[in-house]
Amino acid sequence: MEHKNKVDFPPHFLWGAASAAYQVEGAWNVDGKGPSVWDIFVREEGRTYKGSNGDVAVDHYHRFKEDVKLMAEQGLKAYRFSVAWSRIIPDGNGEVNEQGLQFYDDLINELLKYDIEPILTLYHWDLPQALLEEYGGWESRKIIEDFNRYAVILYKRYGDRVKYWVSLNEQNYFVGYSYDSGLHPPGIRDKKRMYEANHIANLANATVIHSFRKYVPDGKIGPSFAYRPYYPINSNPENIMAFENAEDLLNYFWMDVYAWGTYPTAAWKYLEENGLTPTVEEGDFELLSSAKPDFMGVNYYRTTAVEKNPLVGGVGAGVKNTTGKKGSTKHSGVPGMYKTTDNPFVETTNWDWEIDPMGIRIALRRIEARYHLPVLITENGLGEFDTVEEGDVINDDYRIKFLESHVSAIQDAISDGVNVIGYCAWSFTDLLSWLNGYQKRYGFVYVNRNEVDEKDLRRIKKKSFYWYQDVIKRNGLT
Ligand code: BG6
Repeated sequence: MEHKNKVDFPPHFLWGAASAAYQVEGAWNVDGKGPSVWDIFVREEGRTYKGSNGDVAVDHYHRFKEDVKLMAEQGLKAYRFSVAWSRIIPDGNGEVNEQGLQFYDDLINELLKYDIEPILTLYHWDLPQALLEEYGGWESRKIIEDFNRYAVILYKRYGDRVKYWVSLNEQNYFVGYSYDSGLHPPGIRDKKRMYEANHIANLANATVIHSFRKYVPDGKIGPSFAYRPYYPINSNPENIMAFENAEDLLNYFWMDVYAWGTYPTAAWKYLEENGLTPTVEEGDFELLSSAKPDFMGVNYYRTTAVEKNPLVGGVGAGVKNTTGKKGSTKHSGVPGMYKTTDNPFVETTNWDWEIDPMGIRIALRRIEARYHLPVLITENGLGEFDTVEEGDVINDDYRIKFLESHVSAIQDAISDGVNVIGYCAWSFTDLLSWLNGYQKRYGFVYVNRNEVDEKDLRRIKKKSFYWYQDVIKRNGLT
């Protein structure tokens, strides 16, 4: 749809930026924090790019005041961060660590001092290692009670000041990476176990939403879903069907559960046919359908084109580009369902991610049409190499171009009638990209370090910092 006039961004739009504990905090074993699965996993040979880890990360734990001051200077209205579960409860379900609680108290108070709305994510992948060892983490229903206990501790402590909460970050990716491709801890490659863990994560998500209503009745909560919309490569009906399969299996399989408490029919049939359905106990679907989120959190980076993938001899697992060598990705698929392919209409980044601003509008339109839920964009950004020029200058015009085109597409979606309540760019400072080290940079603020050398960790404002500052001031683009 083309609009004669675009609708303005709403007056209290949450212009924000986001991060995650493991990617920024560092202080991995400081002030009583217990180890998370990532603290252990990164120590295994060959798991991450150049063996990079978050032991120090960008040292946000010790420099949060400096970082929040920069946020205030930029004019951020919101900051999305995650809490490290093992900082609060070092072994996941035992004693509570007051020093951990105090850290986030201080961070929240610092944000509020500058009128920056805190958006707190309960879980951004750093499971306490002890829970993996005790009962296999997300593979056991025991985690539902432990996750709920942890969430309630946070609700009680911060619910008076934090009004926006994210339950699980990218459940669709963390179960896939942890139990299917095996690229994240615990490094398992078993689809059946993935669907089992995923169902349990759904139940945990619903449980903490229920508790939220009791402890933070005036707050808003939702999951952050990694929405990568799929396109058919062309209008060949075979490829349209592949696209329908991909949307069902890779997107609606999560969003339908969040919004309605049901799995999409065709995807469930695929699971049944392949012996992959998770164990469903009495009361599961009642729980899932009774825990409605207040918004759909969306992490949007890219779209992907798909085509037919034959059942016999079709493409399976692919190869991920974690080096920034353009063209090193190998396409993936599910035989009999779909396979990914190049989209000739869009550019790609050095990590082979499609650059597609229209895709975010399409994502927002699909959510509105299917679920009628408000949307909080919890992540969107460009991971690229940055160069520090003479005099600490970083001319990241490519990032500005990326963000500007996406903000413009969001305004189009708002003009289409979608209720978008906020936009958190990924990320505020540069941070550790889980598998890609520190060279794949996302921040408005450069952090002077690399995979092997922590250097001085000094913060340098990039050109995009000032661009976003202006967007926020104007409540949108010029
Ligand atoms: C999302 C995650 O998948 O995308 C972030 O929530 C992550 O934690 C971001 O950093 C970008 O992905 P990557 O792999 O480029 O770091």
